[in-house]
Amino acid sequence: SVPVEVNISKLEPGQLIKVMWRGRPVWVVKRPQAMLDALAQHEELLRDPQSVEPQQPKYAQNPWRSIKPEIFVAIGICTHLGCSPNYQPDSFSEHVDQVIAGFFCPCHGSGFDMAGRVFQGVPAPLNLVVPPHKFVDDNLLVIG
Ligand code: FES
Repeated sequence: SVPVEVNISKLEPGQLIKVMWRGRPVWVVKRPQAMLDALAQHEELLRDPQSVEPQQPKYAQNPWRSIKPEIFVAIGICTHLGCSPNYQPDSFSEHVDQVIAGFFCPCHGSGFDMAGRVFQGVPAPLNLVVPPHKFVDDNLLVIG
């Protein structure tokens, strides 16, 4: 299948853009520093905080689940039954009883943090999938 090129030069902090790759939505999000800092503050609420399950390439098996900390790339499909979660940068999560930015699935209430890591106590069993990707230069991301 054909890799997809994404120009990220205009991506604003906090912005999510969606592209299609292999018939699936892929999100590209520019995470501001506050979002990155928050990732370290709720690990006890996550099912797989260290990304042990192979839901990402090896190069994204790190605290940000990404190559560059600020650029998050994930397939926008819930790991429960395949709905597309909503991006909620300022969300109150009923599961964790606090404000955590993330992706929240409208179908059965699964929640994922800003690294796509699934919260405990929801139907989705696994973190969101990080697809293979690389940076050609500072502005050009290639997915696939
Ligand atoms: Fe997302 Fe069921 S499909 S929670």
